[in-house]
Amino acid sequence: MNTRNVTLLLASLLLAMSVNTASAQGKLSKAEGPISILNIAELEKQAAQKIDLGAFGYVQGGAEDEITLRGNTTAFDHKQIIPDGMAGISGVDIKTRFLGVDLASPVIIAPMAAHGLVHEQADRATIRGTARAGTMMAISTYSSVLIEDIAKSAPDAPFLFQIYMSKDDAFNEYIVNKARAAGAKGIIITVDAGVPGNREADRRNNYNYSIATPNVADFYKGRTMTQSEARALRKISFSAEDIKFIKNASGLPVLVKGILSPEAAELAIRAGADGIWVSNHGGRQLDGAPASFDMLPLIAKQVNKRVPIVFDSGVRRGSHVFKALASGADIVAVGRPALYGLILGGAEGVNDVFQQFNKELTTVMTLAGTPDIEAVKKNKLFDPVTRTIDK
Ligand SMILES: Cc1cc2nc3c(=O)[nH]c(=O)nc-3n(C[C@H](O)[C@H](O)[C@H](O)COP(=O)(O)O)c2cc1C
Repeated sequence: MNTRNVTLLLASLLLAMSVNTASAQGKLSKAEGPISILNIAELEKQAAQKIDLGAFGYVQGGAEDEITLRGNTTAFDHKQIIPDGMAGISGVDIKTRFLGVDLASPVIIAPMAAHGLVHEQADRATIRGTARAGTMMAISTYSSVLIEDIAKSAPDAPFLFQIYMSKDDAFNEYIVNKARAAGAKGIIITVDAGVPGNREADRRNNYNYSIATPNVADFYKGRTMTQSEARALRKISFSAEDIKFIKNASGLPVLVKGILSPEAAELAIRAGADGIWVSNHGGRQLDGAPASFDMLPLIAKQVNKRVPIVFDSGVRRGSHVFKALASGADIVAVGRPALYGLILGGAEGVNDVFQQFNKELTTVMTLAGTPDIEAVKKNKLFDPVTRTIDK
């Protein structure tokens, strides 16, 4: 029996054991309209009131003791922004460019599986929100809606596609070709989630993530396949060959996501990666892993501008975006904040989350005397422990 037959057999066995579909989920938000945001921390509390505890726990929670989850945001306090009211600037411009795409701001949405878990319009609303904000989202292999249907919901909106590579290369080839045909600007290979992290909120809430994964199901002859079924087919460890394979198969720029060390960044670049995505999966995978922000300068030093760096994990403020850019990132991605906006206001809510980041970033940039994103990238932060300014 060849690999494809084995995986097909496995998929059908798993399918027979499962009765879960999206309709088996609890209450889904139908919200659509502008929302008022004080800050992202408050937004999280508001979103918690709107959906079931189980679904919220899945979105908000991290692995085990959530040390990494909390550390991701508190790590931004390890560096400080020096005000500069003498820089002689007359305003700030937050526009930037990434992978040949003009963006209204340096903030994009990280790939996430759970849009359909929280909102009826799922990823369709999210992409409309990012289109309104003039930026872009990354579509997950486990998106709740087919890639091509998400793309059709906002025809001119740029997007990236994230692959959870399968042990089945036929699937890998199929899915990246489908993403390219739908208009993806790049492929993200996620390498930090070979097995799911031990997220105890789900067990405490007796919650079993069981939403359909249509992109996977479509390949396996249209049979409904849940995320846990799809996971059984997921590749657990990665090599340079995987990066080369996806580059060849897709013909698109390839970003490697889940990089948390200079060594891994080097390996990915040598294998041909077109971008490094510094992330610890929002503290959902390896608890006790360092905060993404703490590792960013070391990775940026190693990358040395050979390829662009995307940064995520724990970003909740415009000042966090600023600090990430000043520490070596070219683009900053947010995960949960976008889903909170989606829960509370659908596409408009997602747009409002971007506007909140833009507003905060604009204020910070003005006070720091940095007129544009290039100036932010050159800005030197202060380390309050060593009492030195970054070199
Ligand atoms: C609910 C949820 C689902 C996620 N699903 C995926 C996924 O399918 N693929 C992936 O590469 N990362 C996934 N991630 C991780 C995000 O891409 C990102 O790394 C993380 O959310 C960033 O941290 P933040 O939520 O603190 O901004 C998911 C994160 C969340 C919160």
